[in-house]
Amino acid sequence: MKLFVTGGAGFIGSQFIRFMLRKNPDTQIVNFDKLTYAGNLDNLKECEGNPRYAFVRGDIANAAQVRKALSGGGFDAIVNFAAETHVDRSIGSPSDFLNTDIFGTFCLLEAVREFGIPRYIQISTDEVYGTVPVGSCTETAPLNPSNPYSASKAGGDLLALSYFRTYRTPVLITRASNNYGPNQYPEKFIPLATTNALDNRPIPLYGDGMQIRDWLFVEDHCRAIQTVLMKGKEGEIYNIGGDQERPNREIAEMILALLDKPNELVRHVADRPGHDTRYSLDCSKLKKLGWHPTIPVEEGIRRTVEWYRDNRWWWEKIKSGEFKQYYQEHYGHRLDESTTPDKEDEQ
Ligand code: NAD
Ligand code: TYD
Repeated sequence: MKLFVTGGAGFIGSQFIRFMLRKNPDTQIVNFDKLTYAGNLDNLKECEGNPRYAFVRGDIANAAQVRKALSGGGFDAIVNFAAETHVDRSIGSPSDFLNTDIFGTFCLLEAVREFGIPRYIQISTDEVYGTVPVGSCTETAPLNPSNPYSASKAGGDLLALSYFRTYRTPVLITRASNNYGPNQYPEKFIPLATTNALDNRPIPLYGDGMQIRDWLFVEDHCRAIQTVLMKGKEGEIYNIGGDQERPNREIAEMILALLDKPNELVRHVADRPGHDTRYSLDCSKLKKLGWHPTIPVEEGIRRTVEWYRDNRWWWEKIKSGEFKQYYQEHYGHRLDESTTPDKEDEQ
């Protein structure tokens, strides 16, 4: 199988490439990535020199670059991970999100038609369903996105489905819950909390910290995508969840306990606007194809925390670069006005 993977220098895409090359000795992969702040070729060191792997730098929202990269031909599928992915950045500056997550998806769908590529997997998110106060969403739940990131991803999904209905473009969509694991950029909650705790710095917890996410270990996600790639049906959507719903505060405390650090490192900071209080997926459709999540969050977080503890080289250079300014702008004043859980409880 020859795969055209977009966004493969990011967190999940790089794990997927490494997973597919390891598990499928006949698979060849071209990784097409713009290398934004989140793209990192350090994630793919083990692929360097592998004759079944090639990297092409390019932008999915640039039709000419996409066409040029595909013109080598013979691809069996495109798997589209490329996206702007961080909710907080989408609130401050939405335009890159619309450009990549909607217009970039459009360029890829057009290329699938032009080159007659037999399969297109759109990697999407549970965030398109918006907050889920009770119960769990199946794939037919209405889309109700709360922020520019999830609205852009919903736009990409709807466009992809419209291409299936209008042109019979062979589109499949996956909607995964919150991923975590090694190589995740430290703007996201778990790697931010872990690397801050390793440096004895505060962990910023938005609002009361009781928001619930369903945590999915990245390897379980990669296996799920492989299942959809091999067994999924065109025009269909597949939810992918970890069956591990936990409030953020519990996750922060789990990380601190593993590192033997005090709970006082947690700081309640001003909440994110439009913050979704709970995500929850019903994944029975994918489970019928034989996939199940295998990693309980306690084990996944232990593995993740150990990886960040043992791989400072990977994240210290990220946190000392552009990230410093982002962190200061995003967290500086909020941390100045923050409270510790204990102080709050006393009031
Ligand atoms: P990430 O931010 O770690 O990586 C994104 C990658 O896409 C980077 O390598 C970046 O350089 C590349 N990219 C960005 N814009 C591009 C463009 N215009 N052209 C080409 N490449 C571009 O993201 P991630 O966490 O690995 O997420 C991957 C996909 O999975 C995204 O589509 C995201 O919406 C989806 N997803 C993520 C999660 C999660 O918890 N991280 C959960 C569900 C779904
Ligand atoms: P995040 O990793 O940004 O993923 P998403 O917003 O896509 O779910 O955040 C996960 C949860 O953690 C979310 O409820 C917001 C919260 N959070 C914090 O409390 N503090 C932080 O510094 C960050 C980045 C997130």
